Amino acid sequence: MSGGFSYRPMGADDLEWVMAHEVQLYPFPWSRGNFADSLGAGYLCRVMLDDATPIGYAVLMVVLDEAHLLNFSVILTAQRRGAGAAMLAHLRDELRALGVLQLFLEVRPSNTPALALYTASGFASIGRRQSYYPACGGREDAIVMRVTP
Ligand SMILES: CC(C)(COP(=O)(O)OP(=O)(O)OC[C@H]1O[C@@H](n2cnc3c(N)ncnc32)[C@H](O)[C@@H]1OP(=O)(O)O)[C@@H](O)C(=O)NCCC(=O)NCCS
Repeated sequence: MSGGFSYRPMGADDLEWVMAHEVQLYPFPWSRGNFADSLGAGYLCRVMLDDATPIGYAVLMVVLDEAHLLNFSVILTAQRRGAGAAMLAHLRDELRALGVLQLFLEVRPSNTPALALYTASGFASIGRRQSYYPACGGREDAIVMRVTP
């Protein structure tokens, strides 16, 4: 990986690629309809490129001066090389430029890589939503986190 990262808006043409990775990355993946609805709703949807190769994607809902990170994903073959940290930094740049003052997310307590990345990036845990996620054999809480972009 060269580190020549760039970002572009996600479009409907990306959804086949996105879904091919979404089902590999999550035990309970978003549906194609979830992504299509996000595009249709005008959410901030981005694809991350390493040179010309797509390696990550993200979906954020921005409402006035608050944003919510809804999907944040680096493909398996590109993980653990700084792409996630770089994409998060880029998204925060975009949010600051939009005047966003607070960025929120939910994460599974069992998602050690994501929790480590968010904590290292300055997110603070501000609460817990009980039984928020579907999980194998039951439900799993969500940790709610917040950062100033
Ligand atoms: C979470 C995710 C986006 C991280 O992307 P990434 O490109 O691998 O992350 P980075 O290489 O930028 O790692 C940045 C930091 O995060 C932490 N981290 C990342 N992966 C980790 C792992 N497997 N175990 C422990 N810490 C990890 C480390 O602190 C790391 O810094 P370091 O490499 O200097 O130790 C990626 O693992 C992913 O897409 N997972 C599946 C989808 C998902 O769960 N998304 C989050 C939903 S809330």
